[in-house]
Amino acid sequence: MNIILLGPPGAGKGTQAHLLVEHHGMRQLSTGDMLRAAVKAQTPVGIKAKEVMDRGELVSDEIVSALIDAELTAMGEEVGAIFDGYPRTEAQAVSLDELLAKHGRKLDHVIELAVDEDALVERITGRFTCANCGEGYHDTFKLPAKADVCDKCGSTEFKRRPDDNEETVRKRMQEYRAKTAPILPYYEQRDLVTRVDGMAPIDDVTTEIEAVLRG
Ligand code: AP5
Ligand code: ZN
Repeated sequence: MNIILLGPPGAGKGTQAHLLVEHHGMRQLSTGDMLRAAVKAQTPVGIKAKEVMDRGELVSDEIVSALIDAELTAMGEEVGAIFDGYPRTEAQAVSLDELLAKHGRKLDHVIELAVDEDALVERITGRFTCANCGEGYHDTFKLPAKADVCDKCGSTEFKRRPDDNEETVRKRMQEYRAKTAPILPYYEQRDLVTRVDGMAPIDDVTTEIEAVLRG
C-alpha cells in the first residue's frame, strides 16, 4: 500500500502518518523530516535548504525527489509507504510517478486533509515535540499526561521548529495554495483522491483514513 497525505501546513499529516506507522507497520516518508535531519547534520543539502525553509518557501524539486529516491531504495518493496509533505509541486508529482515505477510500486490513495486555514496558525504555533523520541504535542490539543514528561519515552526535553512562527506559517500556506493545491486534479483524474475532514478530533481522522485504506 502506498499513500499520499496531502494538506496545508498543520493539517495533521505528520500526526496521522505516525499513527498509521504504529497501527499498520507502514513507513513514513516525510521530506520535511528528511530536510530537518540534513540541516541538523549540516550536509550540503541541509546547508542549502536551511534558509529556504526558514523563509517558508519550497526547497528545489531535484533535492526532495532525490531524498525520496534514496529512501525508497533503502526500504523493502513489501513495506507500505506514506508520503507526508511530498509531492508539493506538479514536477514532484511527475517525479513520484517515475520513482514508484522504478521501485515497483503503485499509488493506492491520495488522502486530502481538508482544514480551516484560520485554525492552522493556532495548531502550528502551539506545537512542540519530544527532543528525544520525536513524539508530537500541542499546548492546547495534546499535552503530555504528566506535565513536561514525554508520554512515550519519559524525556523532559522538548523542542519547537524554527519555522513555526506566524509569519513563516502564512508564507508556507501561500506556497501550499499556489503550488501544492493545484496538483489535486492530477490525482482526481485518476480517481485516487479521498477528502477527509481534518478538523475532526485526531482519532476520528485516523478512523476515517483507515476506512479509506480498507477500501
Ligand atoms: P514540512 O515539515 O512538510 O511542514 P508542513 O507541510 O508545513 O507541515 P507541518 O509539519 O507543519 O504540518 P502537519 O500537516 O504535519 O501537521 P501536524 O501533524 O504536525 O515542511 C517544512 C518545510 O520543508 C517546508 O516549508 C519546505 O521549506 C520544506 N519542504 C518539505 N517538503 C518539501 C517538498 N516536498 N518540496 C519542497 N520543500 C519541502 O499537526 C500540527 C499540530 O496540530 C500538532 O501539534 C498536532 O498535535 C495538532 N493536530 C493535528 N491534527 C489535529 C486535529 N485533528 N485536531 C487538533 N489538533 C491536531
Ligand atoms: Zn519522547
